[in-house]
Amino acid sequence: MKVTIFGSGYVGLVTGACLAHVGHQVTCVDIDAERVERLNRGESPIYEPGLDTYLASGLSEQLLSFTTDAENAVADADVIFIAVGTPTCEDGSADTRFVLNVAKTIGKYLRRPSLIVTKSTVPVGTADKIYEAVAETLAYRDLSIKFHVASNPEFLKEGAAVNDFMKPDRIIVGVDAPEVVDLFRQLYAAFNRNHDRLMVMDVRSAELAKYAANAMLATKISFINEMANIAERVGADIEAVRKGIGADPRIGYHFIYPGCGYGGSCFPKDVRALESTAKQFGYEPQILPAVESVNSRQKHSLFSKLAGRLGSDLRGQTIAVWGLAFKPQTDDMREAPSIPLIKSLLVAGARVLAFDPKASDACAEIFAEYEGIDFVDTKEAAVTEADALVICTEWKSFWSPDFAQLRRLMRGRLVVDGRNLYDTALMAREGFDYISIGRPTMA
Ligand code: UGA
Repeated sequence: MKVTIFGSGYVGLVTGACLAHVGHQVTCVDIDAERVERLNRGESPIYEPGLDTYLASGLSEQLLSFTTDAENAVADADVIFIAVGTPTCEDGSADTRFVLNVAKTIGKYLRRPSLIVTKSTVPVGTADKIYEAVAETLAYRDLSIKFHVASNPEFLKEGAAVNDFMKPDRIIVGVDAPEVVDLFRQLYAAFNRNHDRLMVMDVRSAELAKYAANAMLATKISFINEMANIAERVGADIEAVRKGIGADPRIGYHFIYPGCGYGGSCFPKDVRALESTAKQFGYEPQILPAVESVNSRQKHSLFSKLAGRLGSDLRGQTIAVWGLAFKPQTDDMREAPSIPLIKSLLVAGARVLAFDPKASDACAEIFAEYEGIDFVDTKEAAVTEADALVICTEWKSFWSPDFAQLRRLMRGRLVVDGRNLYDTALMAREGFDYISIGRPTMA
């Protein structure tokens, strides 16, 4: 099939590369000419495992191309995806301006019946607005072309997006007419060979399902973090509690790892946007704001734990930070817990030595105006002469460090671990003052 995708960001790019990989003819449209040029040379603007290979094979087999020319890309397409950003407005709602601009562009160039699909996470009701925008533009051109607008939300995890796309657990399609389902079946045939993963529903349910999924996952994380905070106070161990509750299949082990708070481009934004949608429709949500406030408190817990030991005046102290990205396998710094931590450390007068295998450049941009932070190339360089080490991201290279070397390199013995990477008894034996999340501190 001929597929056009508006937006060569994270979602559009992965979708395009994967659809080309299964033989569709994919054209990705982006307004950023430099990005388009780089992508046509096979250079990905994001780090995502496996994406480079798919990009290269798509380009060399001439199944994938990037362009700024919306006119030809629209005129030719069987399916047109909208995968442009929906940033957060000041009131927390999702800004659909870019999505609706694309809808107008589609209306301007549409020449034959087509299926328009939202891939971006868009507030409930956006498909209807897209329909109106395209219909209006067509009416202005004095044309009557049949088109449908469907919702096909993505459920890709950063760092595993290519794999998630290629092996989906479900493909949700929200449609406004039964004939649209056949088009989706054709489009996703390669992913549906052994099991039918297509779930067909109405458009609004598909739009809401995306938000509900992320809100549920964010709720699980805030719930376990709240339990961790209670565990710390009552002298329990959250890791034992986690295993204890996870054994109940109704609860399950997945996604209940306590930590220093969720980040990324999705959970924080989507929880706020869903809250805002609910309010627009006259409903005052109770759980969603609580999920968010637990999370923002959790992001500050690393600094509180550190200040609990070293005091809140950190002048003259050097603090090592391991892990800056919001999670491993990505260079994405959006809403990462390392950001509030580092800000607090710098405000308190500390010198920060930061290390991340992938996200140092992105983090350096955020702290370009700040003094007192240096980005180093190895985890060893970060801890050299450090009074304390704080771990924000669970990169594999942090899982089993050489503790003797760590002791030799560090000046202090304090390790604050936002990801519960180490055994508390082992850390005590190794001579560290080890503070983690929701677990007793051993002397
Ligand atoms: C999330 C969802 O998991 C995807 O299904 C969804 O498609 C995507 O958002 C999206 O809407 O595009 P992502 O933001 O890439 O994916 O990252 P996750 O792996 O879900 O992690 C999110 C955050 O939760 C991270 O900061 C992670 O450290 C934290 N987390 C996750 C925990 O603190 N505990 C856990 O048990 C799991």
